[in-house]
Amino acid sequence: MPGSTRDHYDRLAASYDENWAAHSEAFNGWMSGRILERLDLRADDRVVDLGCGTGIFSRALVTRAREVVCADPSPNMLAQLPTAGGALVPVQASAEDVAFGRVRLPSDRVDAILIKEALHHVRGREAVMAGLARLLAPGGRVLVVTLPTVISYPLFRRALEVFAERQPEPAGIAGAMQAAGLAVELTYDTYRREIARDRYVAMVRDRHMSLLSEFDDAELADGIREIEREHPEKVLEFDDRFAFVLGRHP
Ligand SMILES: C[S@@+](CC[C@H](N)C(=O)[O-])C[C@H]1O[C@@H](n2cnc3c(N)ncnc32)[C@H](O)[C@@H]1O
Repeated sequence: MPGSTRDHYDRLAASYDENWAAHSEAFNGWMSGRILERLDLRADDRVVDLGCGTGIFSRALVTRAREVVCADPSPNMLAQLPTAGGALVPVQASAEDVAFGRVRLPSDRVDAILIKEALHHVRGREAVMAGLARLLAPGGRVLVVTLPTVISYPLFRRALEVFAERQPEPAGIAGAMQAAGLAVELTYDTYRREIARDRYVAMVRDRHMSLLSEFDDAELADGIREIEREHPEKVLEFDDRFAFVLGRHP
């Protein structure tokens, strides 16, 4: 991955789980449920959480599977993984490393791959998806969880525009899965966020989204003033809508 992305996550690792703190438990439970119902894991399944970060969702996967390989290129994110009795297996690797066989996983074939909010960092997504599809055992599933290009976050206007320009279209991800020979379902679910404005502004100041690393200190300060002007309310409420792109090996 580009050095700037790696620096971003290496810097953010220690505070990553705190970012949505007041809501994270409720959100993580909600999101884990949405992931598990789609992946439909069996107790004997071998799973990969690709771009696992600090392993927030690896914890949920491991409650339903034999083994979860937690792959991420950022050593500092991997260092935050829970131990989970040895069932979480850390591997320092990007999606590209795994898809092109540059890093070998403990098993040659896997039953499920989760890529949650990491695919936008991946280069050559069609080729990567084809490589990942080849790793799937018969009946195996790959689930990409991603934000759509238009989001309702109370960010400043320029940040939302840059986000929309950079974020891959869920339909394009579905197309890459289809081209890789998978049967695809694209569905959406929405979580209602409520967060104190001061806390949200502190997260923006901390550049909690990699997108915010695109702005220098002066641009970010201007952006924060815009957020404060546009959102005088003490508590921000907005919809956090996610696309779930599920590909199934025939
Ligand atoms: C927004 S975080 C999501 C982490 C985790 N999946 C979650 O939802 O909590 C994005 C993660 O993608 C990782 N990442 C960046 N580039 C990547 C790549 N090319 N392949 C796989 N993961 C990547 C980052 O290191 C980071 O941990």
